[in-house]
Amino acid sequence: MSKNVTQVMMDEHQLILRMISLVETNTEKMEAGLFKDCNFYLDAIDFVRNYADCFHHAKEEDVLFVELVKNGMPEKSSPIEAMLMEHDQGRAYIKNLEEAVLKSIQGLEDQQPVIAENAKGYAALLRGHIQKEDQILYPLAERVLPETVRSRMTDAYEKATDPDVEKRYVAMVEKYEGC
Ligand SMILES: [Fe+2]
Ligand SMILES: [Fe+2]
Repeated sequence: MSKNVTQVMMDEHQLILRMISLVETNTEKMEAGLFKDCNFYLDAIDFVRNYADCFHHAKEEDVLFVELVKNGMPEKSSPIEAMLMEHDQGRAYIKNLEEAVLKSIQGLEDQQPVIAENAKGYAALLRGHIQKEDQILYPLAERVLPETVRSRMTDAYEKATDPDVEKRYVAMVEKYEGC
């Protein structure tokens, strides 16, 4: 049986989706005047940067997408280009979100609409992004990637995986889910 190279990524999506649900719920509460915890947003930004981006997107960008291109998927005008563009759009939302949260912590008023816009924008973008990867790109990868590259890929994933990082972010999500 051929070695699966996308299940680990789909599992990581599940933790990312749990954080996205928290962002959506807390942002709705914030807009209703029932929530104001800048630390939650700072933690969510930390999660996105270090788990979703460094941990997960790095595996896609440095391993999975690279192998797909090596094995015939075009780099331009292709699903890969679209996914990379969405990773960048996500980073832009998070940068704007961070700026607004920091301004709010410094006492600047009227940051709430900017926080809400970027938090909700990121959540919607990532939900759609994950759906496309889970339902289209990853199944395609499982169909087209030859057996010969798969061990190399899982070895590279393992090198990029730090169990302590994973544990830290699982604990973060669980903490906020319990609030
Ligand atoms: Fe992605
Ligand atoms: Fe992904």
